[in-house]
Amino acid sequence: MPYPARVTLVEVGPRDGLQNEPHHLPAATKAQLIDRLADAGLSVIEAGSFVSPKWVPQMADSAEVFRLINRKPGVRYTALTPNLKGLGAALTARVDEVAVFAAASEAFSQKNINCGIAESLDRFRPVCDAARAAVVPVRGYVSCVLGCPYQGAVPVKAVAAVAAALVAMGCYEVSLGDTIGVGTPGKARAMVEAVAAAVPIARLAAHFHNTYGQALANLLAVLDLGLATIDASVGGLGGCPYARGATGNVATEDVVYMLNGLGIATGVDLDRLIAASWFAADALDRPPSSKLARAKGRPAVSSS
Ligand code: HMG
Ligand code: MG
Repeated sequence: MPYPARVTLVEVGPRDGLQNEPHHLPAATKAQLIDRLADAGLSVIEAGSFVSPKWVPQMADSAEVFRLINRKPGVRYTALTPNLKGLGAALTARVDEVAVFAAASEAFSQKNINCGIAESLDRFRPVCDAARAAVVPVRGYVSCVLGCPYQGAVPVKAVAAVAAALVAMGCYEVSLGDTIGVGTPGKARAMVEAVAAAVPIARLAAHFHNTYGQALANLLAVLDLGLATIDASVGGLGGCPYARGATGNVATEDVVYMLNGLGIATGVDLDRLIAASWFAADALDRPPSSKLARAKGRPAVSSS
């Protein structure tokens, strides 16, 4: 199958990235980063999460972040909401879209959200119903689609079943998370093929962490199946607090560079994105982990 002509990038750095950084950024700095990402042309930005601050203290200021961002027309600012309490806070913060997050591994589900898979789905249904009533779209995540830090191998059937359940409760899209970045291209392709038998590929997104350096190769393997939505994190920020050893998502700028080379449109200005990557790196006081930002060096415009 030819590669898609256009790919939608979902920028998850301000949430998936910053949730796992030991250095907590102030809300104003997070908002500045989000504004820079919007100015670089990213049209979907996961800006925070409305979860228990005891579980993920880095995201405790998400309401303040949403208050401080300069909302750019045409950009969707999204957030994670594990339950009705989170959804209520997200709606108050005028979030454009919310996400519920399940796992294909029982052990990871327990560690991440303190309940098993079936119970998590039962908790997400009322969240989807209430979001629908508020006319707010809901995205679904499935974690550990290519392996689990506690259970090891994860059957593709389990991934497909959870993805189908999320769509059945009203998620318009399901993002498939290689939470610990252990996948390889053949396995990534086989997993997406199996899920696409249950959920149309147009409703699937790839959310690949780069722990083992395989994320770009895995993305290419699933682009080849026609998958056209990719989650990525500026500068390769982050990881997951409940998945030991998980490093950041694939870096957004590395993905854009690859897609540009393939002639696939994203609407993203690479120079502005690299400047945003250096802005985040400087705020965190460490170099970006993306190949591209390092190769290009810090641009003069990166200073805030
Ligand atoms: P729990 O302890 O079972 O919840 O946690 P609870 O209902 O018993 O409540 C316990 C306390 O949390 C109460 O406060 C609640 O009010 C409070 P207390 O009475 O003790 O003071 N609480 C909340 N506070 C603020 N916002 C809320 C909220 N809900 C309850 N929404 C819960 C269950 C789901 C809340 C908890 O486990 C949690 O917050 N987990 C979030 C974990 C998380 O954010 N993980 C990272 C995101 S997932 C990820 O990174 C993977 C992904 O990137 C894809 C991939 O890579 O695979 C998406
Ligand atoms: Mg993730």
